[in-house]
Amino acid sequence: MTDLEKRFEFRDIKPEEHDRAAEIEQIVFPPNEAVFPDDVKAQAKIAPDCFLVAVDRQTGAIAGFLYGIATNEVRFRDEFFTDKSLHDHNGSNVMLLGLDVLPEYQRQGLGREIMKKYCRREQIKGRKKLILTCLPHLVEMYRKFGYTDLGMSGSAWGGEIWHEMEIILND
Ligand SMILES: CC(C)(COP(=O)(O)OP(=O)(O)OC[C@H]1O[C@@H](n2cnc3c(N)ncnc32)[C@H](O)[C@@H]1OP(=O)(O)O)[C@@H](O)C(=O)NCCC(=O)NCCS
Repeated sequence: MTDLEKRFEFRDIKPEEHDRAAEIEQIVFPPNEAVFPDDVKAQAKIAPDCFLVAVDRQTGAIAGFLYGIATNEVRFRDEFFTDKSLHDHNGSNVMLLGLDVLPEYQRQGLGREIMKKYCRREQIKGRKKLILTCLPHLVEMYRKFGYTDLGMSGSAWGGEIWHEMEIILND
């Protein structure tokens, strides 16, 4: 067991944690970027297996999470945040909708570990790619996580300009 695994349990989200995940999204993102609480909860309900939480073993509370929506599409579009009918359980790819680490847990390697565990889990399921959008200052971080920068995304979420990045899990 690694030190992070001793501190945190990594697993699918549970129904009683949906409200807290939606709250954390509002804590870590500015209002224009945060996914609406009802959309976070709806996604957790429809696809808990596309939601990976890190739970602090001391408190039993969520410290961070990563979640997404499965699809056969290969490019990100903003409807993935809001239109849950786009979720295809057997989709080849996952569009990542949020990597959230609470401020008090940031810069301790937790975001990297959540991403690593998510990639491994989806690779085992046979998914081909994970695709995400991020602001320019995070491109380098996702490169370190193994992602390739595809340049500017079609996303206009929150009135921002986003990079689109992907990682290949299975050819
Ligand atoms: C971005 C975020 C997920 C990073 O999580 P974290 O647990 O602090 O990240 P880690 O400690 O695992 O750091 C991993 C690497 O990314 C780098 N990094 C972390 N936060 C960064 C930031 N805000 N800007 C640039 N690089 C960052 C770290 O320096 C580290 O690199 P290193 O190994 O070379 O030192 C977290 O700060 C967060 O939730 N922020 C608010 C929400 C957000 O912006 N999410 C991403 C949306 S695309």
